Amino acid sequence: MLTFSYDTIDSTSDQAKQLVAENPGQIILVTSDRQTAGRGRSGRVWRSPAGGAWFSMAWPMRVEPQRYNSVPLLAGKAVLDSVKAILGPAARVQIKWPNDVLVEDKKVAGVLCERVLGGRAGARGLPATLVVGVGINTNFNSDRLGDDLRRSAGTLSEFTGGCVDVTDLIRGCAARIERLITRLELERSEMGSAFFARLETNLAWVGHAVSLHVGDRVVTGLCVGLDGAGRLRLEVSGREEVFDAGEVSHVRTMSAMIHQQLAR
Ligand code: BTN
Repeated sequence: MLTFSYDTIDSTSDQAKQLVAENPGQIILVTSDRQTAGRGRSGRVWRSPAGGAWFSMAWPMRVEPQRYNSVPLLAGKAVLDSVKAILGPAARVQIKWPNDVLVEDKKVAGVLCERVLGGRAGARGLPATLVVGVGINTNFNSDRLGDDLRRSAGTLSEFTGGCVDVTDLIRGCAARIERLITRLELERSEMGSAFFARLETNLAWVGHAVSLHVGDRVVTGLCVGLDGAGRLRLEVSGREEVFDAGEVSHVRTMSAMIHQQLAR
């Protein structure tokens, strides 16, 4: 794996895409202490002050492109395990489908997976590349993330009460991602259902009402879990439906919200 580290860069994912052209066929890891134009999913800005684990891996697709469909979930699992390794078994660390990592219901990490077009028969004969961008809020106060995120986001140091070794965190997480994608490439089928059954035990809001935003559509239902391919199962109006894309949010009932307000 080729590694490029920066103090400040616009976005590690954008830099990884540029480096792919100069280093065809290589697995590339790009890290930066801070990003000036970090990008999140759905076109959102990803605030990236110093003290975070901001990195991207560029991965040349070596088998059929469909085999990589579950990479967003695998990357989420790798981040989940890395965060658990730091916080220990007592912390409630969960996946908000498909790949946000929550600690005590606060988002501490997110993953942005992109495919760089080109294809095997691309202009310069380069294989298509997957860019897996990972952001883990680590050694800073969540106030730095702005008023809109202060309530919903957290950082690892807020949970550990001390500094986390960012270099170790990135190295460990990148190694986990590498292991999982390699396994996916070697196995004949997609990642087996046993993998998703294990991931389901860490899925946030199972048994709770959630809303799923898919394009212009909002579906509200009871979160049931994951199916054998890692898709989200929701019970909607008494019938189970499965979804392979969307943004999930927790629907808090009025009584739960009043309870929370009183508890503050
Ligand atoms: C999300 O939850 O919306 C995904 C956030 C992904 C952020 C990471 S930080 C490193 C990489 N570079 C970017 O510009 N974005 C990803």
